[in-house]
Amino acid sequence: MDRWRTIIEPFRIHSVEPVRMTTVDERETALRAAGWNLFNLHADDVLVDLLTDSGTGAMSRDQWAAVQHGDESYAGSPSWFAFLESVQVLFPYRHVIPTHQGRAAEKILFSVIGGPGRTIPNNTHFDTTRANVEFTGAEAVDLVIAEGRDPAALHPFKGNMDIEALDRLLAERAGSVPVVFVTITNNSGGGQPVSLENLRAVRAVCDRHGVPLFLDACRFAENAWFIKTREPGQADRSVPDIVREIASLADGMTMSAKKDGLANIGGWLALNDDDLARRCRDLLILTEGFPTYGGLAGRDLEAIAQGLREVVEDDYLRYRIRSTAYLGEALDAAGVPVVKPFGGHAIYLDARALLSHIRPLEYPGQALAVALYREGGIRGCEIGTVMFGRHPDGSEAPAAMDLVRLAIPRRTYTQSHVDYVIEVVRWVAERAASLRGFRIVDQPPALRHFTARFEPLG
Ligand code: F0G
Repeated sequence: MDRWRTIIEPFRIHSVEPVRMTTVDERETALRAAGWNLFNLHADDVLVDLLTDSGTGAMSRDQWAAVQHGDESYAGSPSWFAFLESVQVLFPYRHVIPTHQGRAAEKILFSVIGGPGRTIPNNTHFDTTRANVEFTGAEAVDLVIAEGRDPAALHPFKGNMDIEALDRLLAERAGSVPVVFVTITNNSGGGQPVSLENLRAVRAVCDRHGVPLFLDACRFAENAWFIKTREPGQADRSVPDIVREIASLADGMTMSAKKDGLANIGGWLALNDDDLARRCRDLLILTEGFPTYGGLAGRDLEAIAQGLREVVEDDYLRYRIRSTAYLGEALDAAGVPVVKPFGGHAIYLDARALLSHIRPLEYPGQALAVALYREGGIRGCEIGTVMFGRHPDGSEAPAAMDLVRLAIPRRTYTQSHVDYVIEVVRWVAERAASLRGFRIVDQPPALRHFTARFEPLG
């Protein structure tokens, strides 16, 4: 297995999508029209799209075949039962509530259990999770271990929860914490995994304080692979077995099937508590749909049911984690500053370190992301001061880090696409001193990274 170094994608290509080649001049024009915001680009002006790994993956032959089996009955569709079975094989919770994507599950759950005076701890809340918690008036608290906040710290499970901090919080705010969340893998912390040992310790603390534990399980299969390959004593277990143990340590979950569901849309909320499930279902009917389809078509339910069988296969996960690391290792070897260890779904470039001549309030992450697009047509995502630097009172301060995330869509790009990305990033990094910062010329009051318009400085 480890004899050869070349990554073999464990699939052959069966249907192709053209990638439109563009020139630097064309991309410069597209950037001007987009106000230098990569979210404003037309996607067919992008050569390699690493904006997100969410809903952008390739479905398999068997998923497309499953789509044809989609049964669009309003209630009790066979596609619903196929979905339910696939979910419960891995996550045997009593209630499964299908939603159109992850944030819909979050919205429903926090509408019921959130509210002013409540606190929701997590290792690190993803943006939509935080926003849905805060929208109810509750407070979202991040309690990842110290290593998880340091881009250069090496730790095999950098997504772990700080157990002592959690214990303290639950003691101090007794009665006002309706649930503890753990995000696997920890996306906002760099796609870093959480160990079984840490999950068991979180469970024990939750039990001591009588608080339920939920998983934000978007990248559960990648997390399970890290457990299998990094955690002592786990190497011989099957991935589904590890996933079931993870599930057994929690009382419920929210899920975006756009990640480890290997689907283009979908999600769910699953839980054991009958009363809570009833209240969530009532809200589901109000905004998503009847409980046997939620926000999804029967064909989507079928695609997810099949995707869940494929995502836990060793060949797939070995390729997935190995190919992400391949990008990270090549950039690291070339001296490009990257967050380490490498996450499961993305490589994060440390733009603040690379562009130390650009002050954080002149957006080094934006400068790097724009340069990668301009030079090579690669679209990454600034995760830094553009995204987090503006506060509700309108003031601005540097974010903790200025990163550019290169997220890898599942089964979509080949090793030669990745080699091209490596070549472009190296080229840009070698000329980093010539890059200039940006200023924002137009921005909305919140979530400005999606729609702000920029102008290059100097
Ligand atoms: N939780 C985590 C950890 C996520 O990464 C995401 C989405 C969600 C919840 C929300 O799921 O998009 O289906 O509503 N992350 C995407 C990303 C958007 O690019 O990282 P959703």
